[in-house]
Amino acid sequence: MGVTYFKRFRMEVSLTDPLFAIGQLPSDYRLVAWEDTDVAAHSEVKFRSFCYEIDANVFPCLGDREGCQRLMGEIARRESFVPQATWLLQYHGGGLGRSENCGTIQGIVDSSGMGSLQNVGVTPLHRGRGLGTHLMYQSLLGFREIGLQRAALEVTAQNLGAVRLYERLGFRRVKTVYKVAEVAYA
Ligand SMILES: CC(C)(COP(=O)(O)OP(=O)(O)OC[C@H]1O[C@@H](n2cnc3c(N)ncnc32)[C@H](O)[C@@H]1OP(=O)(O)O)[C@@H](O)C(=O)NCCC(=O)NCCS
Repeated sequence: MGVTYFKRFRMEVSLTDPLFAIGQLPSDYRLVAWEDTDVAAHSEVKFRSFCYEIDANVFPCLGDREGCQRLMGEIARRESFVPQATWLLQYHGGGLGRSENCGTIQGIVDSSGMGSLQNVGVTPLHRGRGLGTHLMYQSLLGFREIGLQRAALEVTAQNLGAVRLYERLGFRRVKTVYKVAEVAYA
């Protein structure tokens, strides 16, 4: 094992300006509002979205199912948890009336009173269809609904696709931070 420092950007967006323009959610997908019983569903999608990604090195809990359950439980129990900014994405296009959970986003209010987006994730087969964008949009609307004026997130600098996505949605880098993590070297 060795210690590595991961460069991360804090990015912020105003919620008082109009949000970015967005099209229709593809017809096979549904956004599902938070219910207290949803910890397991969100945890499972979180795990499937993050287990092979860079953030599973930065936050090892994202690389295992139990870690994701623990993290999701902690998020949902926080006093600062924002149900209105927490959404599950379901795919209904598999036939036979089946549905599959394929995306998640959660919101909390951070210590400075900003909406803080936690762990947006879309499972690999469903990426590149605008679904991450829809999850972000819905979550930002939720923050607006409870009267927040700004939203923030942190993203690992190496996660180029995610950084590009957030910039496209109007987020701007405000700070660079370093997260220390233990990683296994091959
Ligand atoms: C980051 C993540 C959530 C993005 O989800 P996504 O559903 O692929 O996001 P979108 O489809 O909205 O946008 C991603 C790309 O698809 C493109 N896209 C958007 N709408 C599209 C559409 N309708 N059809 C095809 N492509 C589209 C976008 O242009 C974007 O391209 P870009 O890389 O040039 O910006 C997803 O890649 C993921 O879960 N990654 C692993 C977990 C992770 O790292 N999360 C971020 C933590 S900070």
